[in-house]
Amino acid sequence: MPTAADLWRLLRRASADRHHPWRVVALCTQGADGPRARSVILRQVHEEDRRLVFYTDRRSHKVHELAQCDRVALLCWDPRHQQQLRMTGQAAVDGSGDAVAAHWATVPERAQLDYASPLPPGSPLVDGSSEQGGPPAPGGPAAQNPTTRLRARGHFAVLQVQVCEMDFLELDRQGHQRCRQVWVPSQSAWQGQPLVP
Ligand SMILES: Cc1cc2nc3c(=O)[nH]c(=O)nc-3n(C[C@H](O)[C@H](O)[C@H](O)COP(=O)(O)O)c2cc1C
Repeated sequence: MPTAADLWRLLRRASADRHHPWRVVALCTQGADGPRARSVILRQVHEEDRRLVFYTDRRSHKVHELAQCDRVALLCWDPRHQQQLRMTGQAAVDGSGDAVAAHWATVPERAQLDYASPLPPGSPLVDGSSEQGGPPAPGGPAAQNPTTRLRARGHFAVLQVQVCEMDFLELDRQGHQRCRQVWVPSQSAWQGQPLVP
């Protein structure tokens, strides 16, 4: 049975390897009209305070949902190793401060443009044209404009999840394996429990 430390090691490896399937995480929020899931990229992993770091646009729907309910569920699936990891935790979104600026500085210029759309993500496009609301084309005149970069920076946010439970399942012909790791605050420790798969 993998320990909590084993699972954190796997998560850390996933965040550092752009080809690792666990790097694309399904993040599920609770909205007023029910749950919603979307893919997000796992950017950093901090085992010491059980923290997963993601980047997002502060105008996006998920950020509004998190303002209402900060509890989230996360799902990773690795088809090669047949390993699923489900997590639950508490999310916080931050758009300002030194830590966010440090994250922004690591975002490649091309990717910074993803945050520069004049309209919020999910806004309808009039006539289906991306000219009106989408991010500026990389290399285009708008992309070179310092105002565009400044606008992008204003939309960038760091979304962090503090994990409180992990449920690991490995499918195997010799016998599936499942275990749960729960964070016990009074002991400041993870408590593991093998489960019927
Ligand atoms: C492979 C993949 C990776 C993605 N990574 C991110 C990401 O890191 N952050 C993000 O906000 N959206 C990311 N998206 C887009 C989201 O899935 C989603 O469409 C967008 O954030 C709007 O979601 P919302 O309306 O629920 O806020 C990614 C989508 C895909 C397909």
